[in-house]
Amino acid sequence: MKATIVLLPGDGIGPEVIRSAHQVLVQVAQSHGHTLDFQEHTIGGIAIDRYGDPLPDQTTQACKRSDAVLLGAVGGPKWDDPNAKTRPEAGLLKIRKELGLFANLRPIVTFPELLDSSPLKRSIIEGTDILFFRELTGGLYFGPSGCETLPDGQQRAYSTAVYTTHEVERIVRMAADAARTRRKKLTMVDKANVLEASRLWRRVSGQIMQEQYPDLDYEVVLVDSMAMHLLSRPTSFDVVVTSNMFGDILTDEASMLPGSLGMLPSASIGSSGPGLYEPIHGSAPDIAGKGIANPLATILAAAMLCRHSLGLHAEADQIERAVRKVLAQGHRTADLVPRGQPSIGTEAMTQKVLENL
Ligand code: IPM
Ligand code: MG
Repeated sequence: MKATIVLLPGDGIGPEVIRSAHQVLVQVAQSHGHTLDFQEHTIGGIAIDRYGDPLPDQTTQACKRSDAVLLGAVGGPKWDDPNAKTRPEAGLLKIRKELGLFANLRPIVTFPELLDSSPLKRSIIEGTDILFFRELTGGLYFGPSGCETLPDGQQRAYSTAVYTTHEVERIVRMAADAARTRRKKLTMVDKANVLEASRLWRRVSGQIMQEQYPDLDYEVVLVDSMAMHLLSRPTSFDVVVTSNMFGDILTDEASMLPGSLGMLPSASIGSSGPGLYEPIHGSAPDIAGKGIANPLATILAAAMLCRHSLGLHAEADQIERAVRKVLAQGHRTADLVPRGQPSIGTEAMTQKVLENL
């Protein structure tokens, strides 16, 4: 097969981990006779520095023409000025919107080899396998917002959670379809005891599940209670679907179950067109340029890219197996070992994955 992949390394450790995932994709493509054409573009802080825009038009256009996008990370202290005209994060939010990527898939799977890296007890996390569907282009992130000065000089700021029936329907269906191929359980998380937008989620989701997915085990959980259950009974969840803001918070919380943010990939997909794949972790400016970042999350994101955007299932499995083998062999980057224990750097870890492919 032939495909065009846009690489958006971004900021901080982004370029380092993208280089690793790129090498893995090149080797996998070569060994299966696929032609992958890679193009690199800017996003985030580096794009602000070069073009004054966190998402330059040429980046958007290249992404739209591609088959899939692989992104590193955006942001860093350099661009944190609260009075700045724009921020790196705006580039990420805009590319999601431009590509219509309404579903963010975040698999939370514990690796048997890393159970002791988690701050939580082995007995609680062992066997955790959750697939989050976070809605990505609506809700509080994109509703009417603003900040105005009142006559008495105070400021008044607001952000509004807005959802339409269609926006809820399409992601609930996508999540329910995924649950059907897994353990047949869907958990919908909202705050319907307080928020009007959540009450819409509850009605729309309840109706779809009753009419179209009676074969699935369906439950609704309030977001505050979910924050607790994720830590007390993570293995009781299969597929979880929720709105943009709740999903942002819950997936960061859930990322601690497997032990390190450095292991978790995510996929953002729409109903058609290219998907965008990225590690869950951020740009980690504190370790950028030191060659110690864990490349595995981005390598696993590349596996998701093969599976969801290119239909290359065997290749995706192959990458995931290689990562597991490397862990089983005992290779660890610094984030996966207690402070002071021996570890290997980004390049050495990448090399180990390439050897095990
Ligand atoms: C994420 C990030 C982004 C979000 C930020 C960087 C805008 O936290 O992908 O989870 O809030 O969606
Ligand atoms: Mg987040």
